[in-house]
Amino acid sequence: MTARSTRRDFLKHSVIAGASAFTAASWSRVYGANEKLNLASVGCGGKGWSDLEGTTKSPHVNVVALCDIDETTNHLGRAAEKYSAAKKFFDYRKLLDEAKLFDAVLVSTPDHMHAPVSLPAMQLGKHVHCQKPLTHTVHEARQMRLAAKAFNVVTQMGNQIQSHEFYRTAVKLVHDGAIGKVKEVFSWQSGGMGWILADDRPAGEDPLPSAVHWDEWLGVAPARPFKNKIYHSFNWRAWQDFSNGQLGDFGCHILDPVFMAVKLTSPTSVFADAPKLNKEIWHKWSKVIYEFPGTEITGGKPITVTWFDGDGHKPANDLLGVPAGYSLPGSGSVIVGEKGSLLIPHVAPPKLFPEEKYADFKIEMVPARDHYVSFADACRGVGHTTSLFDYSGPLTETVLLGTIAIRIPAQTLQWNAADLKFTNSDKATALLTKPYRKGFEPKWL
Ligand SMILES: NC(=O)c1ccc[n+]([C@@H]2O[C@H](COP(=O)([O-])OP(=O)(O)OC[C@H]3O[C@@H](n4cnc5c(N)ncnc54)[C@H](O)[C@@H]3O)[C@@H](O)[C@H]2O)c1
Repeated sequence: MTARSTRRDFLKHSVIAGASAFTAASWSRVYGANEKLNLASVGCGGKGWSDLEGTTKSPHVNVVALCDIDETTNHLGRAAEKYSAAKKFFDYRKLLDEAKLFDAVLVSTPDHMHAPVSLPAMQLGKHVHCQKPLTHTVHEARQMRLAAKAFNVVTQMGNQIQSHEFYRTAVKLVHDGAIGKVKEVFSWQSGGMGWILADDRPAGEDPLPSAVHWDEWLGVAPARPFKNKIYHSFNWRAWQDFSNGQLGDFGCHILDPVFMAVKLTSPTSVFADAPKLNKEIWHKWSKVIYEFPGTEITGGKPITVTWFDGDGHKPANDLLGVPAGYSLPGSGSVIVGEKGSLLIPHVAPPKLFPEEKYADFKIEMVPARDHYVSFADACRGVGHTTSLFDYSGPLTETVLLGTIAIRIPAQTLQWNAADLKFTNSDKATALLTKPYRKGFEPKWL
């Protein structure tokens, strides 16, 4: 058996095992009116801080554990000061050893550590709010969806704009038929990538601040020397070992209302136009073309979704049914229908075109949900989440399939979602997963 077929078998079998080897244990229960949800947070700085602030808007949440590899103020420090009774950790594995402390966890680390933290947490029966993109690889995204189901836990991906009135309104407009059957979609993120600070891996090593636990930051990723500001914090986005570049960073936001509105699941093929990739750093621009099977929203006809990223890289207005002089927002989507087009800026009110045709059309705004409080409520047995892994898993798979196409540009890669493989490229199939550093391997289903 070749190494390649071993990996393929592993992928396939892990999916099958996920579907059958576990029966759903029910960890969910309804909490008493005064009973609090005990919450842990992994990654307390950056987005993790706003995840904590958002979730603790619920009066029913008690922060009991905080884990961050950086003990300084902007990371563990500020959270530790505010939630002074919470137990502190710098290694998520030690937090999981004390799983009895908490019922739910916020995972807000860099992307390469989402699945390694979330999967064992779900296997311990913990509810999980995990930042976007849900995972670093397609195989991890499939595993996250299967684990949420197998362990019957409440889940939410942190694409909080989904709960915003603007995105909710856009989805309803499409479902209500405002633009007729959907024919095509264009999405873009045309902002610069200020986090690309180097053209290649910088030489040497910087002194490691005593408050930073670098081995734990690296986690599952291959070891590399610490270089100040190059990776931690925020700038890890530039690097393939930790991120999926601009599409990985924004795809789960911008393609989310498209997915919901058009009721997409998995593409049948993906094609990318992108520059030759640096060995370690992500692309500076890309155009990715997904083909999806038809849905009720497309009148059953297959549909193309085209993604653009890179500084100033947007679709041409004439493809969108938008007037030539109209200035498109820096990021967003246009859903082109048989009767008109819907612009969904990221993030601003949706707009219908042609403007003359829709001059008298009154857009009724759909009220926002609270993305974080609804997670805390659902964990306590009240209501439900909307970006549960059963939804955000396939969305993330789609986004990450695009990042595989970016690595293998100018080829139409045929995708079989049920078998979790590309049918015409072993090279692309091999990129559905990656090696994991010893000591940090996730627990697969
Ligand atoms: N939903 C959104 O709008 C949004 C916005 C920004 C970032 N994000 C997502 O949030 C996540 C974090 O992004 P960021 O920009 O805040 O990154 P960051 O590097 O600024 O912050 C990450 C935090 O996690 C800590 N950390 C890193 N590795 C850890 C580990 N192994 N264990 C525990 N703590 C660890 C860091 O010290 C830091 O406090 C990413 O997945 C990113 O895509 C989402």
